[in-house]
Amino acid sequence: MLLQALSFSTLFVLFSLIFIGGYVSASGVGLTCPDWPLCPQGLLPHEDFIIEYIHRSVAATTGVLVVATMAFTLKSKAAPKSIKITSIIAAGAVIGQIALGAIVIVERLHAVLVTTHLGLGIVLFSMVLMTALYAYRLEGKKALAKAQ
Ligand code: HEM
Repeated sequence: MLLQALSFSTLFVLFSLIFIGGYVSASGVGLTCPDWPLCPQGLLPHEDFIIEYIHRSVAATTGVLVVATMAFTLKSKAAPKSIKITSIIAAGAVIGQIALGAIVIVERLHAVLVTTHLGLGIVLFSMVLMTALYAYRLEGKKALAKAQ
């Protein structure tokens, strides 16, 4: 139950992050926060860079959730190999994506890097979706075993 809740929460937060990322890109506010890792006012948000600030904060939250999901699946004895594999790939992708986000800033929104950032975001979403679906199936199997 906990794995199911964790993986679906991760999926929801990640979907919101991709949505915010699209808005950052389309509205041209990607460099309002020109430094890395923090914005000009450190941890304090400001209306001048609020959208990019939210994008980074939600990215950090997503990173924690994805890595926590992986730790949970690796610890679980009931979890099949498939969910362990998708959650490990998701953790690798989220770490790569956060590092790539930093490079996107340092390289001042180079087109190839921004496109790669989008592509890796899709890979990450696919892996988190598969992890959530495997978790859903695992809970179903557990419930069935209990009922029998
Ligand atoms: C899990 C982590 C992340 C995900 C899933 C993610 C996802 C996305 C997506 C989907 C876009 C829209 C891309 C497009 O429309 O072409 C985007 C844009 C952007 N992301 Fe991220 N992002 C993440 C982390 C970060 C981090 C840590 C930074 C670093 C500061 C960052 C900086 C940016 C910037 C600057 C843009 C706008 C690029 C532009 O103006 O075209 N992202 N992100």
